[in-house]
Amino acid sequence: MARRSRLVGVGGFLPERIVTNVELASKLDTSDEWIRTRTGITCRHIAAPHDTATSMGAAAAARALSYAGLKASDIDAILVATATPDQAFPATAVRIQAELGMTSGFGYDISSACSGFVFALTTADSLIRSHQAQRVLVIGSEVYSRILDWSDRGTCVLFGDGAGAVILSASESNDGRGILTTHLHSDGQLRDLLYVDGAVGQPEKSGKLRMSGRDVFRHAVEKLSSSVDEALSSCHLTRENIDWLVPHQANIRIIERVAKKLSLPADRVVITVDRHANTSAASIPLALDEAIRDGRIREGELIIMEALGGGLTWGTVLMRL
Ligand code: ACO
Repeated sequence: MARRSRLVGVGGFLPERIVTNVELASKLDTSDEWIRTRTGITCRHIAAPHDTATSMGAAAAARALSYAGLKASDIDAILVATATPDQAFPATAVRIQAELGMTSGFGYDISSACSGFVFALTTADSLIRSHQAQRVLVIGSEVYSRILDWSDRGTCVLFGDGAGAVILSASESNDGRGILTTHLHSDGQLRDLLYVDGAVGQPEKSGKLRMSGRDVFRHAVEKLSSSVDEALSSCHLTRENIDWLVPHQANIRIIERVAKKLSLPADRVVITVDRHANTSAASIPLALDEAIRDGRIREGELIIMEALGGGLTWGTVLMRL
């Protein structure tokens, strides 16, 4: 009997303040029309001074626990995907562990930029399948508003803040539900296409996000399409078997290209980029939270999740809900 990681809880948190394209255009040489047609984004949530990766991640986690009907003490491990931690250390995961009042188990962070949730989900699945954990809380939490160069119109219009969380639980049942396969990649030769120019180890640099948008776009379409194919063929499945695409929400044009390759109609793709912009590692769990809670994604349906981010890093997770 196969031991699988099954999704049993989802939760999300978005900061209160919504910043529209029109508001950005009042401060920057850009327009609502340019941002909407190039990216699909109309607005984004921006963190208040008191919102951090820890506070937002803990709020999303609390909602996921409540959805699953579990207590913090039922969780064995917390994995947090973030590029914007409150402190260099301790990890955001252990800070969230304390916020939740969890006094056992363990937690650590994963740094894979926008692919972070896919990498964290893969690690959580390995912990469960190797019997190191029974239940794992997987969180993506990001405050990119603090690493954006707000004078660079080529990047600052693309991102938003927020957190999403899921709970994976071990299942020994033979019903085919749970994570079926995961596929991760990185190519450090491409590290200069998307990066943050500084951190605590290089404090003399500005610590702002830099990107070659066009190159990232090209790599995203190409690499995500092949990663999705790789995941399907490893399970002897075809595009026709997929019920839902829940992609990283970077740009509607990237999402549409991958959906087209999968021959998936628009109503089988979960989209949040229009209202959230790119929340990096938080985007997939926020999309899952929305589409599971509103009843679009149902038990037994096959979901493909994919993401690409700084590194470059990219990967795919195939899961039956
Ligand atoms: N408003 C108005 N004009 C702008 C803006 C803006 N916000 N930003 C750039 N421009 C201008 C440029 O200056 C340029 O002007 P020029 O022709 O006079 O030089 C023109 O628009 C075209 O610029 P490009 O960068 O070539 O525009 P492109 O069509 O490639 O779109 C974009 C830019 C939206 C960033 C696109 O390349 C993209 O989405 N790339 C993917 C990047 C991404 O999503 N990164 C997120 C992190 S990675 C990930 O999550 C997958």
